[in-house]
Amino acid sequence: MNHEPSASDLNQPFLAANQELWDEWTAVHETSTFYDLDGFRAGGVRIKPYEIEEIGPVDGLTVLHLQCHFGIDTLSWARLGARVTGADFSPAAVALAQRLAGDLGFPEARFIQSTIDKLPEVLDDKFDLVYTSNGVLGWLPDIRDWARVVAYFVKPGGRFYLTEIHPVAQALENEDVAPGELRLQYPYWEHPEPLTFPVQGSYADPTAAVRATEEHGWDHGLGEIVTSLIEAGLEIRTLREYPFVNWKLDFLTEADDGTWRLPPGTTGELPLFFSILARKPV
Ligand SMILES: C[S@@+](CC[C@H](N)C(=O)[O-])C[C@H]1O[C@@H](n2cnc3c(N)ncnc32)[C@H](O)[C@@H]1O
Repeated sequence: MNHEPSASDLNQPFLAANQELWDEWTAVHETSTFYDLDGFRAGGVRIKPYEIEEIGPVDGLTVLHLQCHFGIDTLSWARLGARVTGADFSPAAVALAQRLAGDLGFPEARFIQSTIDKLPEVLDDKFDLVYTSNGVLGWLPDIRDWARVVAYFVKPGGRFYLTEIHPVAQALENEDVAPGELRLQYPYWEHPEPLTFPVQGSYADPTAAVRATEEHGWDHGLGEIVTSLIEAGLEIRTLREYPFVNWKLDFLTEADDGTWRLPPGTTGELPLFFSILARKPV
């Protein structure tokens, strides 16, 4: 038996602080225009068209959504016909997700409160699709531990899908820079100690009053992410890189389609977002 402390054990105070922050952010996000909960209540689906195209039909599939926040992406998959389970470490987020599932008529949607690393201790099932997206990996101290949990929950023959900000975009300074000003600032590869940043409201509403003062994050290179998934037993089917981010970064400008891109006229190109589709062998 392995008694070595895991990266999550070693980083427990940082993860606990992040969890309190996410509890506070959940209340901010519930009423934010960023999340447009009214639009979702009215029948919206928040999964991006490129994700739906890459994953294909989910009707009747069992889907586990890791780091589901307050469940509106999870319930979007339910609206597309999936039988959904969401998991998140924030009790406030899970409580709101459960409330939304009840209000919006998804009695079979399940939401579980757990950190990623402890999820196998509280959830037994295996899934046709494990899904996670948009601002998830930077909260995790160890990408190999994460990949093992991902692979654990994929049924043989089932699939895993991730879409996330590109580690190259994460390495660039995002504050007090002009559109097109690309200033290399942060690590690209995983580092044992977190980077700590002051909290200013939330990404959904920087003016919101929040008591938490710090957030803690980790970086993971694309090679580390892909290799961890392969070592955990998944076969990578596609790895796609995109020239946009799904949210505002100061060095980008907003495009007509609502994504954020390098300003028109920029010389050269960079990947800013990516997706991975993987499969577990039968
Ligand atoms: C940016 S949100 C998820 C993105 C989601 N697509 C959205 O925009 O609603 C990140 C989520 O990760 C959760 N989280 C952060 N660290 C976690 C951990 N170690 N274990 C489980 N959940 C975690 C947070 O509570 C939060 O709900």
